Amino acid sequence: MKITGKELRQKWLDFYKSKGHVDVGAVSLIGDGTTGVMFNVAGMQPLMPYLLGKPHPAGTRLCNVQGCVRTVDIDSVGDASHFTFFEMMGNWSLGDYFKKEKTAWTFELLTEVFGLDKDKLCATVFAGDESAPRDDETANLLIGLGIKPDHIFYLPKSDNWWELEGTVGTPCGPDNEWFYPLSEGKGEPVFPDDYVEIGNDVYTQYLKTADGYEPLSNKNVDTGFGFERMLIFLNGLHDAYLTDLFTEVLAKLEELSGKRYADGGETQRAMRIIADHTRTSVMLIGDAQSLTPSNVGAGYILRRIMRRAIRWCRKLGVDSSAMSEVAKIYIEKVYNEAYPLLLEKETFILEEIKKEAEKFEATLVTGMKEFEKCVAGIERKNEFMAKSDPSYVPETVIGGKAAFRLYDTYGFPLELTEELAEERGLSVDKEGFAAAFKEHQEKSRVLEKGEAKGGLESHSEMAIKYHTATHLLNAALKVVLSPDCNQKGSNINDERMRFDFNFDRAMTPEEVKAVEDLVNEKIGEDIPVVYREMSLEEARAEHFVGVFDSKYGSVVKTYSIGDFSKEMCGGPHVTHTGELGHFKIVKEQSSSAGVRRIKAVLE
Ligand code: ALA
Repeated sequence: MKITGKELRQKWLDFYKSKGHVDVGAVSLIGDGTTGVMFNVAGMQPLMPYLLGKPHPAGTRLCNVQGCVRTVDIDSVGDASHFTFFEMMGNWSLGDYFKKEKTAWTFELLTEVFGLDKDKLCATVFAGDESAPRDDETANLLIGLGIKPDHIFYLPKSDNWWELEGTVGTPCGPDNEWFYPLSEGKGEPVFPDDYVEIGNDVYTQYLKTADGYEPLSNKNVDTGFGFERMLIFLNGLHDAYLTDLFTEVLAKLEELSGKRYADGGETQRAMRIIADHTRTSVMLIGDAQSLTPSNVGAGYILRRIMRRAIRWCRKLGVDSSAMSEVAKIYIEKVYNEAYPLLLEKETFILEEIKKEAEKFEATLVTGMKEFEKCVAGIERKNEFMAKSDPSYVPETVIGGKAAFRLYDTYGFPLELTEELAEERGLSVDKEGFAAAFKEHQEKSRVLEKGEAKGGLESHSEMAIKYHTATHLLNAALKVVLSPDCNQKGSNINDERMRFDFNFDRAMTPEEVKAVEDLVNEKIGEDIPVVYREMSLEEARAEHFVGVFDSKYGSVVKTYSIGDFSKEMCGGPHVTHTGELGHFKIVKEQSSSAGVRRIKAVLE
């Protein structure tokens, strides 16, 4: 090992301390709700108020190594580089130094502390657009430091701009990304194919607003270098699990299972998933906010991660106590110095892991039998039908009700059933699952309130139809007028709907007609209206529209109508667009400055 995790951490912090920075330490992984993000996804997230101008008690130059949790890529965990928990090495200037110092320090750290060859370094900078000008200043500074001019590339916003997606009122800006060839290949390495990104310096000098960007009074720097990525890279490895963070964990899993990581295949995949998911579980339970597994919000995400780890323990041929053994290694040996709180909370963490494993294992075996029954049922049906009908297309989908039963009775998260199904060449009817889930919720609500005669009576059938029509109208306006149009308000009764949206001029009669036609076209397609609950992170990743602020809480309700409309919304809605009838716009007028109002009816 050329450099260990502990050494890398220390070198990062020592370097920035030598440049006048204060190590502010890592904070809780669990979001504080101000941005609506459930977990910390970047080192800058907890520092947002200070990047926006609030004075930080530790001054204007900060550094740390901050844990982050991202679960959007959970399905990729098991390969050589994806994690649900990772750390980001960061440093910040809060309106203090700017590009000149930052470029010089990153350059010094990479070439002098980590010994990288300046002739091989490549850098990308922002090419400029209507949001901000081209970043020639950074490019010239890099050339002045000795980076070859033909190693500097100007890239558009999709590459060289950093912001917390889906948020407003947050700091953002153009960035300068750093690249290095991963290993010595034959001949001169070619950018970008032979290069890896090792980190980025973001010049957070803008405020993201609902309509664009405004300059901030502070010109800040927000640097982020992935800790695990840097560790792989500096050690010339291609597999993050071969860094010293995981050496003892893999040895333990090899000892318990009698299998070898180096054998690759499913054994290797299982060991990686157990190693990653256990680490994330330890970090979340051992967090200052002591998250515990539950059925809502962040707690449910933790439960899914833990249950997935437990199932992979079984696949590896070890029982769930392996998870506790692995947890102990992280707590006592790998993260004991950087996260002393884990040691303090060791008993609590191990107890929570044991409790969740017991709870899940109590139903896992019977649940697996239930799952096998579903599969056997599908196979029997396929066999039978194929005999009598040669053109029969085999069934490959596990029904939504069955998936819901596995969830409700046996504690199988939907993702687990999906994973099991995939292993058998099947899929799961997610829409059916969501419908069964909703039906169950409504029944429980009615039971709870003793409202045996229908809890939804306050919403008339007509009002529900109008409500679904607002979603179609909102989507149609984005297509016909502008993707920036969005709902600003609505009012519904049994006779008509009123819908306000942002747009700065009257619609032409042709536009009104086009919107009407598009809505009617979608009604004609009789598209199913699909309800799903998901985390805010997932909703954002899947481009649902809605106001991303904390009032939605951490689990959001969403409705989608094919690919046409995806909105966060509490419902209720019709089940198919065909139920709406004919949509007609009766009036289009001004509502207030920059806001138009449509009155429409369903006939
Ligand atoms: N905020 C920047 C990132 O996450 C540094 O990469």
